[in-house]
Amino acid sequence: MVRASPLWFYLDAVLVDLCEGMPVSTPLIEFRHLQKVYGSGNTEVRALWNVNLCINRGEYCAIMGPSGSGKSTAMNMIGCLDRPTAGDYYFDRQNVATLEDTELAHIRNQKIGFVFQQFHLLPQLTARENVELPMVYAGVSKAERQERAIVALTQVGLGERLNNRPSQLSGGQQQRVAIARAIVNRPLLLLADEPTGALDTHTTEDVLNIFADLHATGITVVMVTHEPDVARASQRIIWFKDGEVMHDHLSPADIGSLTTMGRSR
Ligand SMILES: Nc1ncnc2c1ncn2[C@@H]1O[C@H](COP(=O)(O)OP(=O)(O)OP(=O)(O)O)[C@@H](O)[C@H]1O
Ligand SMILES: [Mg+2]
Repeated sequence: MVRASPLWFYLDAVLVDLCEGMPVSTPLIEFRHLQKVYGSGNTEVRALWNVNLCINRGEYCAIMGPSGSGKSTAMNMIGCLDRPTAGDYYFDRQNVATLEDTELAHIRNQKIGFVFQQFHLLPQLTARENVELPMVYAGVSKAERQERAIVALTQVGLGERLNNRPSQLSGGQQQRVAIARAIVNRPLLLLADEPTGALDTHTTEDVLNIFADLHATGITVVMVTHEPDVARASQRIIWFKDGEVMHDHLSPADIGSLTTMGRSR
């Protein structure tokens, strides 16, 4: 009988794998021979040079490397805040270079959540109002904005602090508001540049626990960090040097020796 042939057993096995949620690699971020050059002639700076990099949906990556190695330039590129000088950048299979500024703004608003070292909250707004902002730009109704902001703030453990202004919150709490703001439009990607740089060890752990929870829900997380212990919370460590990817998929032991060889700050 055909059903009992080895081919059927193979296909059955594949289907079971797919049904059981085996990860199917889908590229979210693809740099192809990407370059970013600032200035020209004597003042030319090759911030990124011929970078090939692929990060799939669902990954949790840390970008490390010495000061000036191109990490923030790469983050600006990944976050569609800047365009390459040469080469290509595909985000969610779209070539960023061919998109208009308004299309880029739409991608940033809908598909990417940003978290920065210095939180960048608006001081005159409450926690809830800060979290509502990306939804104002996305055209979400007031009632839904309020509801989703409360859900996001509760998710990061700030359900009791909805009406506090940033000045009434600790650094760790402000960063949690910034994370709630970053996730409230349900992005594909959470992009964080030194998210724990201004935090103490305890609050750093809180932020990393939130990132781990978000990653577990399927959000792709990419963060820049100088701190080996923070990078170790990720699943893939990418090391930049002089505008190039010098190492990829580093082990925790590797980053220990790289950071002691040439302190990153
Ligand atoms: N707007 C700019 N104009 C000219 N040069 C720039 C500009 N932005 C960055 N650079 C240069 O590009 C290189 C990479 O800078 P980038 O900010 O990406 O480094 P980084 O790895 O994030 O460093 P750090 O760890 O200090 O934040 C550096 O030599 C920097 O001086
Ligand atoms: Mg930087």
